[in-house]
Amino acid sequence: MFRGLTVTKSDDGAISASIGQLDDSFLPEEGEVTIKVHYAGLNYKDGLCLNGLGALIRDYPRIPGVECAGEVLESSDDRYKAGDKVVMTGWRFGETWHGGFAEKAKVKADWLVPLADGLSLRQSMILGTAALTAILGLQALEKCGITQNSGEVLVTGAAGGVGSLSVLLLAAHGYEVAAVSGRIEEAGAYLTALGAQTLVPRTELAEPVKKPLESARWAGCIDNVGGPMLGRIIGQLKYGGTVASIGNAGGNDLPASILPFLLRGVNVMGIDSVFQSYQSCVNGWNRLVGEFPLDRLEEMATQITLDELPEAGKKILEGQTKGRWIVTL
Ligand SMILES: NC(=O)c1ccc[n+]([C@@H]2O[C@H](COP(=O)([O-])OP(=O)(O)OC[C@H]3O[C@@H](n4cnc5c(N)ncnc54)[C@H](OP(=O)(O)O)[C@@H]3O)[C@@H](O)[C@H]2O)c1
Repeated sequence: MFRGLTVTKSDDGAISASIGQLDDSFLPEEGEVTIKVHYAGLNYKDGLCLNGLGALIRDYPRIPGVECAGEVLESSDDRYKAGDKVVMTGWRFGETWHGGFAEKAKVKADWLVPLADGLSLRQSMILGTAALTAILGLQALEKCGITQNSGEVLVTGAAGGVGSLSVLLLAAHGYEVAAVSGRIEEAGAYLTALGAQTLVPRTELAEPVKKPLESARWAGCIDNVGGPMLGRIIGQLKYGGTVASIGNAGGNDLPASILPFLLRGVNVMGIDSVFQSYQSCVNGWNRLVGEFPLDRLEEMATQITLDELPEAGKKILEGQTKGRWIVTL
């Protein structure tokens, strides 16, 4: 038996989360590696799953939790043995497969990566999918030729998980970072400490596009918000500027003009962290260990328990969580 959180759907369609003892037989038979979970991370997607939103979970009951880190208990795959420290992200873990919000998880060996040298399990979950995605965003900017000399790089949803890590990552790489936040008063000092040189109130970019081309200001952007704000940012990119489109916390629709693409040659690069190859994940973790200021991680970490998760799942959807929230199992 092990303790875990499950979301269930009642006959009237209501989704609820409950915490209790689960039998080992609850875990998927097809998984080759059983993990004793030490930490899981809380992500925006988990907020959706915990509240039955986003149609991410189709089969109930389900253990949500899109990422976890822990120790191998047993493995039928030669690549892993009992005691190995491993990290699980992506592959719709916690959506179509039981996830990390439990003391045990059972997954496919192909999906795992060994914990990178130099990282603790706790650090790996403060970083988590959010940091892997931030690295993919940075790589997209690099691929499009955006350098430290190109000009200001904007980060939207900056006080959130991917946002905070992106600010810290870009600043550590010497980029001039501007941070957009809906809570400058509360989170401004935090964002400045992470390395943001300019703070942009969300309201400045909240209005949908009115002019297809505005003053060219941003060399690049790591966008966690999408919606009308992304449309505005596209129209404010400098010539050849690039947005790494990561998130949709502000909506799925993209009201935008085609003119910035035609007249300024701007790029929007889509980022997906879920179906990355093993090698891409290993490269991402190695880059994080080598290039990320790991000694700054605790500044953005809030630790919660399994019992606190349902409430935390509501807070992340309301944009009330700052930085990275990790769950200790
Ligand atoms: N593409 C991928 O592979 C991938 C991977 C991970 C995450 N994501 C996506 O990236 C986004 C961020 O994820 P996260 O885990 O970092 O979530 P998070 O911690 O909740 O951060 C999202 C931030 O967006 C801002 N925000 C919230 N609601 C908003 C609204 N209505 N309008 C404008 N801004 C709003 C808030 O920042 P401020 O308070 O500072 O404004 C909030 O903290 C989510 O959409 C998530 O699904 C995508």
